[in-house]
This record gives sequence, structure tokens and C-alpha cells, in this order.
Amino acid sequence: MTPAIGVFDSGFGGLTVLRALLERLPGARYSFLGDTARLPYGSKSRRTIARYAAQSARFLVDEQGAEFLVIACNTASALALDAIQDAVSVPVLGVIEPGAEAARAASTSGDVLVIATDATVQSHAYAAACRARGLRALEKACPLLVPLVEEGWTGHPVTDEIVNIYLGELRAEAAARGMRADTLVLGCTHYPLLREVFERSVRPGVKVIDSAESTAQAAARFFPGETHDPGAGHAPEAGPATEIRCFATDSVEKFERLGSRFLGRSVGAVELIDLGG
Ligand code: DGL
Repeated sequence: MTPAIGVFDSGFGGLTVLRALLERLPGARYSFLGDTARLPYGSKSRRTIARYAAQSARFLVDEQGAEFLVIACNTASALALDAIQDAVSVPVLGVIEPGAEAARAASTSGDVLVIATDATVQSHAYAAACRARGLRALEKACPLLVPLVEEGWTGHPVTDEIVNIYLGELRAEAAARGMRADTLVLGCTHYPLLREVFERSVRPGVKVIDSAESTAQAAARFFPGETHDPGAGHAPEAGPATEIRCFATDSVEKFERLGSRFLGRSVGAVELIDLGG
């Protein structure tokens, strides 16, 4: 039976997670919802994020028949995973635990840095997930990065400079606390698009972790018969049976134009839906 997987994000940044899922589970049927009308989630309260995310999850399960949900949005995973689990009756996987797990595997010093939206940082969900794995995490909000990526400024010198400033501040704070951080977790859907900038900006030897890949690995464990190992030679970007439908609550044209950058292939025709207020 072809698994039906729903992938949710506040916008289309979560397509980086869908991209990783396609490599691991190429034979699944995917519905992706970007709540573009209400993006950004990263500057909103827990209550509002929980309401929006629960509505979105219900759409994917009740109307698209998803039997498994991947919450690609770090902010929704950090603040609303319980609300989403209460709203639907299918298994729900967020990105925080897989991201922390990848940090644990990467770090030898036990000290990690996490960058994310304001709401994610304020929730300290990454710090808690890291602490549960014996890691010490220092988190920093980088609120200017989502709008820059949304604007398509991924190769822009202004973006590079802002990344350098954020990481410089984070390094200084880590040093003041006596941390020897050897891992940087990209705790936001949009940051993998700036991965090269981060890699240039961090100290040599610091590993940059993108939770998309570890989330796809965790999702694949739910579907053992369907899994493809991307390291094992031929990589089906999408199997013959792969079906992807993308939905957005606004800005369909922008989603179609910029979404391919996140997905690494065309997103096709994006369907506009209305989830109410
Ligand atoms: N998807 C959000 C996240 O990963 C970033 C965009 C937003 O703030 O809504 O945290």
C-alpha cells in the first residue's frame, strides 16, 4: 500500500524536508501544506501557533487522507506538537527531536549551538531535547533570516553579513559561558538554503546540522518496507509512483516560483485553500 504522508510548514521552507523525504521514501504519496497566509509563525504566540497548526494538520488528515504527518516547521514542532497530536489521530513527527538526535551524533564536545526563530528559541525546545541527550545547547534567534530567504536573497552579500553578525554574537556568548561548541543546528526550515553561508562563517571543524535529513530518516523508520537509502547508489528523486500535491493558504504564485529552490525540482501547480481565520 502506498503510504500517504502529509507535510506541514508555515510556508514553503518546509519543502527542504519534503525533498529529504522524497529521497528516503520515494514511493509515498505526499500532500504538502504551506500556511503562507499566516507566515511567519516564528514571531507569534504559542496559542496562535497551536491554533493555526492544528487547523492545518486537520486539513492534511481529514481532507487529504494523510496517515502520517511530518511537521517540517521548527516553530510549530517546538510550540504546538501536543496541540497537533490532540487534533489528529495519526502519528505525528516533528523536527526538533530528530535535529537534537543528529546533534548528539555529530558533537564530540557535547556543546552545541542552535539558531532558530524567536518563538522556537523562547520555547527552549531544542535546549530541552539536547539536554535530554546529555548536550549543552546555546540558542539564538535570527529573525532577519526568514524574510531574506523569502525574498530570494540567498546569495546576497547583505545576507552573508547578517549571518556573520549573528554567528559572531553567538560565538562570543558561547565563549563567555566557557562552551566549546563543535556543532551548529539549523533550527528553522529556511536556514538550509543558507547552508553554504553558515559553513563559511563557522570555525573550521564545526559541523552544520540540517534537521531535514534526520527527520526524513526518522520518518522512514515508520515505513520500513518503503525505505530507500540515498547513500546506496542510484537516487530516485521521485519514484514512478510518487505523487506530490502542494497546497498554500496564500501567495500561490510565489510558492510556485520560489518553492522549486527549496524542493530542488518543480513544485507543479500549487492549490489555494482557505483554512479560515
Ligand atoms: N517554518 C518556520 C520554522 O521552521 C520559519 C518561518 C516562520 O517563522 O513561519 O521555524
